[in-house]
Amino acid sequence: MSKANILHQDTVALDEQTGALIIIDQTLLPGTVKLLSLTELAEIREAIYLLRVRGAPAIGVAAAIGLYVVMLHSAAKDEAAFREAFAAAKATLAAARPTAVNLCWALERMEKAIKRGGTPNELLARLHDEALRIRDEDVRVCRAIGENGLTLLKDGDGVLTHCNAGQLATVRYGTALAPIHVGVEKGYHFKLFTDETRPLLQGARLSAYELMADGVDTTVICDNMASQVMKNGWVQAVLVGCDRVAANGDTANKIGTSGVAVLAKHYGVPFYVCAPFSTIDLRVKTGGDIPIEERPGEEVTEMWYQKPMAPQGVKVYNPAFDVTEHELITAFITERGVLYPPFEPGFRKAFGSSEGEEPV
Ligand code: MRU
Repeated sequence: MSKANILHQDTVALDEQTGALIIIDQTLLPGTVKLLSLTELAEIREAIYLLRVRGAPAIGVAAAIGLYVVMLHSAAKDEAAFREAFAAAKATLAAARPTAVNLCWALERMEKAIKRGGTPNELLARLHDEALRIRDEDVRVCRAIGENGLTLLKDGDGVLTHCNAGQLATVRYGTALAPIHVGVEKGYHFKLFTDETRPLLQGARLSAYELMADGVDTTVICDNMASQVMKNGWVQAVLVGCDRVAANGDTANKIGTSGVAVLAKHYGVPFYVCAPFSTIDLRVKTGGDIPIEERPGEEVTEMWYQKPMAPQGVKVYNPAFDVTEHELITAFITERGVLYPPFEPGFRKAFGSSEGEEPV
């Protein structure tokens, strides 16, 4: 596939002909654009765990389509066998990554879709429809986040982002990069600074790649350069995504996000979290209750280097996410508008209930 076409390809898709989950293998970007066609539970779980597909919304959609695909190819002959296989596949996928709430959110929606009894074929049809509903909603929600976020930006603004919360982290548009992509469509010109995002380099490899594919003026900086870039006055807004937002607004996102928020506060730069309601988890009261994924030390010491860059056997601490306290967040940009503090009443009003179910 041509690199310029990356934005024309949905990050997560269902191939109806072969009954396969289609993803772009993001571990190979930016050098190689390769689509993977997956039907086996083990390979779908592996793709999520190894970040071949990553970003909270994309993980949710991949899990939903993946669960449908696994059941499509299952040998279950009756309803009991179907439900048993479904429960096992759901549990395997749910355990793949713990922090992004979209994963469990999407799997729970799939389970609800087959609450009512039926033959395996009837249950399969409902799983198919629900998976595609989740996919289509993701596209609509991200577009709306893009439109809402754009109201906070001016033509020519410098924008700093961390990790990749772009199209590659959703089906289309992205969350944090949606205002940029929508803005480009409308003739805006932004100057994007993308933190490289150690250790897996989602900023350098993925955000830079997708922004350049959209013709955006893009500069990669090492994570420790954000302060300098803000001090220079080059950044008018920070836009980041999120993996789970607690009821009080505390937000888990890629490791390093909270440091950017502290810097933004120091330099008086607005710090916006772009958040689909599927990422807001009202069941979790504060950031302290969000499970933080820890990943293998080799990601820090060896991956992306030609030879190990730390002494063999050194201890490594490699949390994949951190929590930004709500006091550091200027506003949440959601599909239902821009929410300012105090966040919890705004979230609850939008959900229309006191429970973290579906948005109204
Ligand atoms: O470990 P990753 O690459 O899945 O982490 C992704 C992020 O932290 C994103 O910012 C977040 O999932 C939001 S994606 C719209």
